[in-house]
Amino acid sequence: MYTVRKVLDDLYYVGANDHRIALFENIFPIPEGVTYNSYLLMDEKTVLFDSVDWNLGKDFLRNVEGVLDGRDLDYFVVHHMEPDHAGAIEEIILRHPNVQVISSEQGFQIMRQIGYHIKDENAIIVKEGDTFSFGKHEFVFLEAPMVHWPEVIVSYDTTTGTLFSADAFGTFGALDGKLFNDEVNFERDWLDSARRYLTNIVGKYGPFVQDVLKKASTVDIKMICPLHGPVWRTDIPWFIDKYDKWSRYEPEEEGVMIAYASMYGNTEYAAQALASALCERGMTNVVVHDVSNTDISYLIADTFKYSHLVLASVTYNLGIYPIMKNFIADLEALNVQNRTVGIIENGSWACTVGDKMEDFLDEHLKMFDVLNERITLNTSLNEANENDLNALADAIIESMKNIREVKEKSGEKEA
Ligand SMILES: Cc1cc2nc3c(=O)[nH]c(=O)nc-3n(C[C@H](O)[C@H](O)[C@H](O)COP(=O)(O)O)c2cc1C
Ligand SMILES: [Fe+2]
Ligand SMILES: [Fe+2]
Repeated sequence: MYTVRKVLDDLYYVGANDHRIALFENIFPIPEGVTYNSYLLMDEKTVLFDSVDWNLGKDFLRNVEGVLDGRDLDYFVVHHMEPDHAGAIEEIILRHPNVQVISSEQGFQIMRQIGYHIKDENAIIVKEGDTFSFGKHEFVFLEAPMVHWPEVIVSYDTTTGTLFSADAFGTFGALDGKLFNDEVNFERDWLDSARRYLTNIVGKYGPFVQDVLKKASTVDIKMICPLHGPVWRTDIPWFIDKYDKWSRYEPEEEGVMIAYASMYGNTEYAAQALASALCERGMTNVVVHDVSNTDISYLIADTFKYSHLVLASVTYNLGIYPIMKNFIADLEALNVQNRTVGIIENGSWACTVGDKMEDFLDEHLKMFDVLNERITLNTSLNEANENDLNALADAIIESMKNIREVKEKSGEKEA
């Protein structure tokens, strides 16, 4: 039990760090690792909250049995059935055959689908608002569908003000001994991972995240115990505000992400030229990504972060370069909304990509405002493009000003 940390006097962190997994859900690169969080409450009753991925089952079981120190496990709360948390359920039940499992109805259904055998007399189905006492600690259970699966529940310990939030408020990143948000420099070292986690994994379900935030706003939260990443015990409103922005598809920052698709470097050069033109105009909050060597999850995260997006692409077989096409299709899949977009297009004989990208955004993405000032390259940037380059840079700056003014006006109205 050497990786156990005390969360409260009678609440222990018994989760595990995973540095071996290269791709979370076999799709998202996580060079920063990830944790699977599990918590064990030692009240009059003993209560385990979730488990871990089976890959780390051995370490987790060592932690759980170490804290139990010979006591039996009375209750096992299963908030979420995704295998990164549900991987060790069967083993816990085999070791503690009398344990009462608490989950949603659909949670039990998924347990059966996976092949976990929970006897009816050991299954306690909870619904929105159900309460439960484990001794000193009184809990209320709340439904949180689609954050991140349909069966998800969260629970709130009314005695201590602790929210067990399932995947909500989670982040990629291994903790490596640290546990609390105030033991790391979250804004510097973790925020990018948190954004990449949330926007890619539940970006599509912003309104459902909003529902959870609404429920959370009705209780006094002193601590948040998520299923990944640090436990929150300070600056909770700051992190809730990030979640609020991401789930309302509101940009976090005024700034520009330029994503380019280029085979030989000409479109790349134009993307860099636009970045320089923006910086010349004082807008230095600019990032430039090559879609061909930047994992799409980073492109998505930065699209959520910045107010403006520039798509720069070559024409490819009369269409959009496949990797760029994949990126904008993912924007649609994740329901990204409310961005201002500039376009740079390139073609050597039949340049169609600008119209194709604009049509896609118009037809498939909500509240995407495509600027008229497009740059069209006939193979490479030259003097003929100079006016267009300046016009696009000016239009981006101008639209920022307009957005700021609208915001200020609506702020005045609210005040
Ligand atoms: C497989 C392939 C298909 C292409 N299809 C088109 C096309 O349909 N229309 C066009 O104008 N250019 C097409 N091109 C040419 C590139 O879009 C053009 O050379 C562009 O300037 C390359 O810019 P880059 O230097 O940023 O890669 C194609 C190039 C390749 C390799
Ligand atoms: Fe999940
Ligand atoms: Fe998870």
